[in-house]
Amino acid sequence: MKLDSISILNFKNIGDERIVLSEGINCFVGDNGAGKTNILDAVHYLSLARSMHTISDKQSMRHGEESFMLDGAFRHDDNRHEQVVCSYTTRGGKMLKRNGKEYDKLSDHVGHFPIVVVSPADTILISDSAEERRRYFNRLISQIDRGYLASLIRYNSALAERNKLLKTNPSEEMLLIYDMMLDGAASAIYRRRKEVVERMLPLVADYYSELSGGRESVGMEYRSELESSPLADLLLSSRRRDFLNEHTTCGIHRDEVVLTIDGYPLRKFGSQGQQKSFLVALKLAEYRILAGHMEERPILLLDDLFDKLDIGRVAHLLRLVGGAMFGQILITDCNKLRLQRTLDEAGVEYKLFNIAEGKIAL
Ligand SMILES: Nc1ncnc2c1ncn2[C@@H]1O[C@H](COP(=O)(O)OP(=O)(O)OP(=O)(O)O)[C@@H](O)[C@H]1O
Ligand SMILES: [Mg+2]
Repeated sequence: MKLDSISILNFKNIGDERIVLSEGINCFVGDNGAGKTNILDAVHYLSLARSMHTISDKQSMRHGEESFMLDGAFRHDDNRHEQVVCSYTTRGGKMLKRNGKEYDKLSDHVGHFPIVVVSPADTILISDSAEERRRYFNRLISQIDRGYLASLIRYNSALAERNKLLKTNPSEEMLLIYDMMLDGAASAIYRRRKEVVERMLPLVADYYSELSGGRESVGMEYRSELESSPLADLLLSSRRRDFLNEHTTCGIHRDEVVLTIDGYPLRKFGSQGQQKSFLVALKLAEYRILAGHMEERPILLLDDLFDKLDIGRVAHLLRLVGGAMFGQILITDCNKLRLQRTLDEAGVEYKLFNIAEGKIAL
């Protein structure tokens, strides 16, 4: 997948710009607040119909304007051209068109224009609680398996109902119905999570090793209570505890993916640069999983390339993503000279854009 060009109108601090991209590496350089991340966010909008930040569509509109519009000319790996337009108006809300035809449901768009983003904000995926990692894997697996999302929705609604029920002194039969519903959904989710983590592990380990120049080795282990027995059995034996606690104390909503560095928990013992390196390795593994599933190389967005990484690791990263396995890449950085030097030393071709106050110049 490639984005040949993008037009951006009244989106954040960008007034009216058209960018013609190269099909390899594209670099956006400029000072803090210039609008570099905003350009990546515009691409994110075209791919996933929403911002990569937790902000509303309205907040993405340039201050004082009543609408924004993004227009992207995409090209698939098999050379098919497609146009995606995403617009928002205060009156009419958000609209997404693919080749001139409006979607009924925005969610139908998701997955057809794959991207992978590495952004400084993603480090919470490594440093925060298990919930962040569950959310990450849920999002990833949903993209390659629609049935997974359906199981997740079934599981979560049965879980909410069961928790409500536990507060009301319910009959054993009633609970058993929910236990069965949870069990069916949970075993499908468990199998998928286990499989995906196992598939990603060697990729993550390899990428990490390349990024760090073999300095540390990392691991990733899926832990679930379902390893020992099916959820139905677990629910039965934890029933008394569940009554006392008035909520369900076992299940795949408590799964964890433990990340390690040289055998120790990365969250506690990894330095910031090591955690960031793991994040990059994880995202590159995600890239490979998505590319394999869709038979299309996603667009890779690397926001703030040097964030927490030393020059050596950035150089390794650039050599890695400059290879044939990866397609189009959009990179941002605030230090033009450092970026140019590192790219030149890595021996990769690139196109450079200068950004200042929302304006783009070659
Ligand atoms: N809705 C909006 N309307 C106008 N300007 C906005 C809007 N939302 C954000 N901005 C402006 O966009 C700028 C931030 O842009 P962006 O995050 O792309 O910067 P950046 O170049 O990535 O900087 P950094 O190097 O610090 O990451 C800020 O100046 C901010 O005020
Ligand atoms: Mg930025």
